[in-house]
Amino acid sequence: MHPVDTLGRPIRDLRISVTDRCNFRCAYCMPKTVFGQDYRFMDRKELLTFEELERVARVFAGLGVEKIRLTGGEPLLRKELEHLVERLATIEGLDLTLTTNASLLAKKAAALREAGLRRINVSLDSLDDATFMAMNDVQFPVTRVLDGIQAAADTGLAVKVNAVVKRGVNDAGVVDMARYFRGTGHTLRFIEYMDVGTTNGWRLDDVVPAAEIVERIDAAFPLEPIDRAYRGEVAERYRYVDGEGEIGVIASVSKPFCGDCTRARISAEGKLYTCLFAARGTDLRALLRGGATDDELHDAIAVVWARRADRYSEIRTERTSERTRVEMSYIGG
Ligand code: GTP
Ligand code: 5AD
Ligand code: SF4
Ligand code: SF4
Repeated sequence: MHPVDTLGRPIRDLRISVTDRCNFRCAYCMPKTVFGQDYRFMDRKELLTFEELERVARVFAGLGVEKIRLTGGEPLLRKELEHLVERLATIEGLDLTLTTNASLLAKKAAALREAGLRRINVSLDSLDDATFMAMNDVQFPVTRVLDGIQAAADTGLAVKVNAVVKRGVNDAGVVDMARYFRGTGHTLRFIEYMDVGTTNGWRLDDVVPAAEIVERIDAAFPLEPIDRAYRGEVAERYRYVDGEGEIGVIASVSKPFCGDCTRARISAEGKLYTCLFAARGTDLRALLRGGATDDELHDAIAVVWARRADRYSEIRTERTSERTRVEMSYIGG
């Protein structure tokens, strides 16, 4: 039996954070200093092992999960991640994918493809070096991300590119990005800047509504809307009228999509979260390490899902953004 939550939503996607570490310090996600302190990261022994992750993944597949996304922090910082990919790729009928900043992708692409990965989403916020370096805050140059994308494409991985847009920071470059990725076969998606975590100082004024982004690109390269690829897809899609490919916009602030949200998340230490904006998770690691059987794990997850009522983005106001919640680098983008 596949559970549905209190709003009738099934569980279809599992996003697994494999590490809380990242080698970038994007201000919208992990700003360099938080209240004057540096980040405290989890110990290695805190992390779920690949064996534990495979077990959890199989239980989720039994609950109806059809897609697993590996995230972080930066997932490629987790040692020998390809071995986890290899294990998860053996789960039948699963869409297995990864979200990465691509800093290590040129090195890792072939091993990941070999291990059974078929597609990948790369974060890149600007093609302008000064803007991108200011955004990642570790002076990481655009060319190295582009090299990673090329290496991934060369090994046969399908690539989508994700850009978070922040007003006055990188919004002037959206048409340049569209121009660059048109015709490459890589779908470019623009993401509205969200109030995730508690450290990025989010303000509604910083958000560039997706409709404005579409308008700007449409003026340069005419677009027409197309249907979502699958139920619950977070991106709205548009194709270039001249046939040069498509773009997407993820309007989680201006047009929330909680109604169709089928996503569960697990943190690197094995806590289950039913919303990106949740304050608390359920400790699956304690069950795993306490000797629970697969059936017991299955039932525990089904109970959590059946009680789920999350719809944060639909009830967001300037005030709710002050509520306690976990960081995105911990819970996984
Ligand atoms: P595909 O499987 O390729 O369609 O990718 P995806 O859109 O599911 O995954 P990706 O990691 O590329 O997501 C892109 C961005 O959408 C994330 O980094 C978030 O900013 C946003 N996003 C994804 N899921 C959610 C969600 O459940 N809630 C909210 N509010 N935003 C989300
Ligand atoms: N708003 C929107 N997306 C965010 N991400 C991280 N922080 C935010 C935020 N504040 C997402 C981006 C990035 C991925 C790793 O996490 O999509 O590409
Ligand atoms: Fe790292 Fe991605 Fe967060 Fe940037 S957005 S700090 S690359 S996890
Ligand atoms: Fe899902 Fe929560 Fe995002 Fe809404 S805010 S789409 S419920 S993760």
